[in-house]
Amino acid sequence: MKKIFICLLSLVIFGGANAQSEVSIHSSMNKVKLDFTLDASGRPSYKVFFGDKPVINNSYLGIKLANDTALDKNFALTGSEKTTVDETWQPVWGEVKNIRNHYEQVVIHLKQKSATGRLMNIIFRVFEDGVGFRYEFPNQPNLKYFVVSDELTEFALTGDNKTFWIPGDYDSNEYSYTTSKISEIDASVLAKSATDIAVRFVPDKYGIQTPLMMKTTDGLYLNIHEAALVDYTSMQLHADINTFKLTANLVADGVGNKAYMHAPCSTPWRTIIVSDKAADILSSKMILNLNEPSKIENTSWIKPMKFVGIWLEMQTGKSTWNYADRADTLDAKGQLIPNGKHGANTANVKRYIDFAAANNIGGVLVEGWDVGWEDWFGNWKENVFDFVTPYPDFDVKQIEDYATSKGVHMIMHNETSGSATNYERQMDTAYRFMNKYGYTSVKTGYVGKIVPRGEHHDGQWMVQHYVRVAQKAAQYHVMLDAHEPVRPTGLQRTYPNWMASEAGRGNEYNLFSTGNHPDHETIMPFTRLMGGPMDYTPGIFKIKGYAPGDPERQVHTTLAKQLALYITLYSPLQMAADMPDNYEKRMDAFQFIKDVAVDWDDTKIVEAEPGEYVTVARKEKGAANWYIGAITNQNGRNAIIPLDFLDKGTKYAITIYADADDADWKKNPEAYKITKYYVNAGTKLNIKLANGGGAAISIKPATEADKGLKLYK
Ligand code: NOJ
Ligand code: CA
Repeated sequence: MKKIFICLLSLVIFGGANAQSEVSIHSSMNKVKLDFTLDASGRPSYKVFFGDKPVINNSYLGIKLANDTALDKNFALTGSEKTTVDETWQPVWGEVKNIRNHYEQVVIHLKQKSATGRLMNIIFRVFEDGVGFRYEFPNQPNLKYFVVSDELTEFALTGDNKTFWIPGDYDSNEYSYTTSKISEIDASVLAKSATDIAVRFVPDKYGIQTPLMMKTTDGLYLNIHEAALVDYTSMQLHADINTFKLTANLVADGVGNKAYMHAPCSTPWRTIIVSDKAADILSSKMILNLNEPSKIENTSWIKPMKFVGIWLEMQTGKSTWNYADRADTLDAKGQLIPNGKHGANTANVKRYIDFAAANNIGGVLVEGWDVGWEDWFGNWKENVFDFVTPYPDFDVKQIEDYATSKGVHMIMHNETSGSATNYERQMDTAYRFMNKYGYTSVKTGYVGKIVPRGEHHDGQWMVQHYVRVAQKAAQYHVMLDAHEPVRPTGLQRTYPNWMASEAGRGNEYNLFSTGNHPDHETIMPFTRLMGGPMDYTPGIFKIKGYAPGDPERQVHTTLAKQLALYITLYSPLQMAADMPDNYEKRMDAFQFIKDVAVDWDDTKIVEAEPGEYVTVARKEKGAANWYIGAITNQNGRNAIIPLDFLDKGTKYAITIYADADDADWKKNPEAYKITKYYVNAGTKLNIKLANGGGAAISIKPATEADKGLKLYK
């Protein structure tokens, strides 16, 4: 139900009848307060408070245009409206069943005091957990087609905040997080030392990425990001390390412009989420609420699921994506010469289908099935793949029939190698092929420098491209998981077939590089995942032994922590990333992956501190079962979990998949123990997490089979 209240604005005008007077407008929602000011020079600015504490000091707003005067000052206020909205909506899938969208909106109408009289509105929405605002450019005679050369939006921090940041890279989010004060930010060091696969371009030494998580010197938790990035370039931030002022730093295109606009239009929302509790940042739905409702009417075909894939074996060198070693050496018949290590062969695919069918896993991803992999990486080529021609050892029809007979969905892989133009030309053909052969989901990828040449992964052209792909996939009833796109901004509300993105440093870095520091997964929920689900690829059971001779090369978690990630890193498409062989050695632990849900009626953030620990409990959609994940960084700790969210009067059976007493992410990562008890709503769990460890827990209403269990104490 939607309730809207409109009321007149209270304007505080200083300086009497003078036209140059300062104007202030206030809005608040519970503890969050916004002050908007238009100063005597007609320059707009805002401040944000949490209770009595300022969290954003006076910060100027404005847009700079290419070949035109800036829209940043000399404005007059021509009017304003306040509206209150209080509605509840249901996502197609997600962390909770119902989402409350409750805010006060303040629309500020500005007109420049010049001959052209250009109009710009600033729209604020004040929620109980933060503030969103955007620039809107109404239909008008003197501002129609325009080019944004810079956005002047500021976020003046109140002190030298503790910050969890990655470099402001125009092409990649695949970095480890640095935890430092604002005054210690230096992105150039990280960008230079990077040796990984992603394309990197970090033009600003003080450039950092959003979602940016901070803890203020007052102990408040503060998160800055954006929502509804649809037809604009993405916003990174430039940090002034002396004044602690952050300024919008928009990703440029090939000729140095930022965004091409056509009024009426608006920018994405800039978001500031704030609380005195870290858990509230994780449960905030503000970014989703700032996105448009679903544009897909019939969503019955969108179904969250778990999947396995012919994937880790390539990441670890056991098999290859490519069928031959060389594209330019052919046999006498002009055919590629097989290297004998090709992963995507029909027999191997069937092995994964069998494993999925036997273990409650809905899908099978196969990478390296289509011709082109001999020549895909690093060549900045326009045409690498056609997305419909399988290698000779991949029998697409036989695989479809086999998967159908086993009730398993095939997941398509479309690696574009960064050539978005090629993908756009082939998209209809590619999606028709998916429909023909029963593929219900696609994983896309953008490894490589972008074509159109000069564009960046996070610029306006590519932002539009990712949205076009989601729309095209929806047209063909295909679910989407995008790797290497711009980081998400809540568009899964508008395109609920856009299930997940990678857009961050995934678990795969634990396989082919020096890895992810043990605090990585305790930071990700506060940063990368604020905008939407991540295909992090959890569930790696074989922790060590990937690079003989290099003992540092290991997964930087315990095995139990890999299980906990199914809960702490939410995705409705959740991979069981390891190979069947490795799971079959530990089917008792795999039982958690087999059982765990991927769609939820409710979520409780039990305890959380960025960089330290995260404990989350979730209730399975349409069922009485709960699943809990608890993780810690390099330091062991005890997770204290009161089960007060369980139904009173119901007896539950609990299975705890915990680190063994002597587990340690470095010394003994694969040691776990599984225990079972009765619990009820009065139970308080106390679970030891090893250094770099975690615990996964399933809780189900008790049945006859649980008769022998003891009560947890
Ligand atoms: C990078 C992706 O993140 C990874 O999951 C995929 O296997 C490779 N690209 C190949 O497309
Ligand atoms: Ca990647």
